[in-house]
Amino acid sequence: MDWETLQKECLACRRCQLCETRHNVVFGVGNRQAEVVFIGEGPGEQEDLKGEPFVGRAGKLLDDMLELIDLDRTKIYIANMVKCRPPQNRDPLNTEQDACAQWLSAQLELIKPKIIVCLGRIAAMRFIKPDFKITREHGQWFDRGGVKVMALYHPAALLRDPRRRPETFVDLKTIQSAMREDCTHTY
Ligand code: URA
Repeated sequence: MDWETLQKECLACRRCQLCETRHNVVFGVGNRQAEVVFIGEGPGEQEDLKGEPFVGRAGKLLDDMLELIDLDRTKIYIANMVKCRPPQNRDPLNTEQDACAQWLSAQLELIKPKIIVCLGRIAAMRFIKPDFKITREHGQWFDRGGVKVMALYHPAALLRDPRRRPETFVDLKTIQSAMREDCTHTY
């Protein structure tokens, strides 16, 4: 499938109940030729209203985190596991995640990233392993079909608990080293 068809079909999606309450489908933003993809959990209020991922407070922190390793939204791709806002920002249900998975899979097939960074436990449980423990396993690489996958603390968790930020800085530097080693673009 090409990007245009994919986006058009995704924006019209009615595969789960979240379509009833959404204002916008949050498809994803960034560089479609990126070698690194960041994956969040699902849109919050601001994202739902704007149709763009990570535009609220957590998004501002994500931009600051990216800047620490000379990245910005033009160099990477950012998407969420579920594309419509769960009411009251509850965790997306497994059924909602399953219904939505085809969209992100199709995006990843088109991008073919070398590195995937999961933002938070929920994305890590799906992309790394179901029993993923964020406190123990953040910052570690996992090989998933030749793609390097790592999880960071979710920026919203870092807003709640700033004591985790130094560990996240180390994890970001690990990502930067891997990009320098494995990616063909210059970073
Ligand atoms: N949290 C997420 O996981 N994704 C967003 O887009 C915004 C907040």
